[in-house]
Amino acid sequence: KIKGFIFDLDGVISNTSVLHSKAWKQIADKVGTPWNDKLAEDLKGVDRMDSLNLILDRGNLQGKYSEEDKLALAQEKNDNYLNLVDQMSPADILPGIKEFLDSLRDNGYLIALASASKNAPTVLEKLQLSEYFQKVVNPALLSKGKPDPEIYTKGAEILDLAPEQCIGIEDAEVGIAAINGAGETSIGIGSADILKDADIVFASTDELTLANIEKAL
Ligand code: BG6
Ligand code: MG
Repeated sequence: KIKGFIFDLDGVISNTSVLHSKAWKQIADKVGTPWNDKLAEDLKGVDRMDSLNLILDRGNLQGKYSEEDKLALAQEKNDNYLNLVDQMSPADILPGIKEFLDSLRDNGYLIALASASKNAPTVLEKLQLSEYFQKVVNPALLSKGKPDPEIYTKGAEILDLAPEQCIGIEDAEVGIAAINGAGETSIGIGSADILKDADIVFASTDELTLANIEKAL
């Protein structure tokens, strides 16, 4: 029986996947890696340094940058990103998410956050959703990023639940792999082609209701 829901943040709770994308494109343009939809998709859910490495790999640029240069580029991306986050408000919560969180709370489900983003607490503050997320996995303490299951395994642990009692919600292919690898039920938000390994796929967050989930399970 399902007792808890573990959420990704960027692209599930808010449209910040678009802001991450914008900020990474500025770095890709700077180093000279061609930007395309495939790269944007592949970056979803991937942590900061792995994202930078992916951008450098795609441009065949790995040899060109020292570790120090890379830290500076990652810092520059984060500054770009935080400039965009600064403009955010509760209006940036994706459709139906607030209502879904309220229905989970009213029905006694436990809620946790499993975002790879070190900026997740700041974004939740901007959205005024921090009160729903008393349990947040700290990505700084993880040894491996998504698609490794670690972050979703930790999510169940901090809720004191077994993996089988948890549903994870993700917009990224690597995120679905992480949920599945942790032995939890996966819900994908977005394209069924890309999120083909998810147990359930909804095209948009406004389809995320307890009734729809029960129907689909
Ligand atoms: C994930 C995003 O949630 O967090 C990625 O989908 C992002 O795009 C990653 O790179 C790390 O975020 P941050 O804020 O720690 O750089
Ligand atoms: Mg995401």
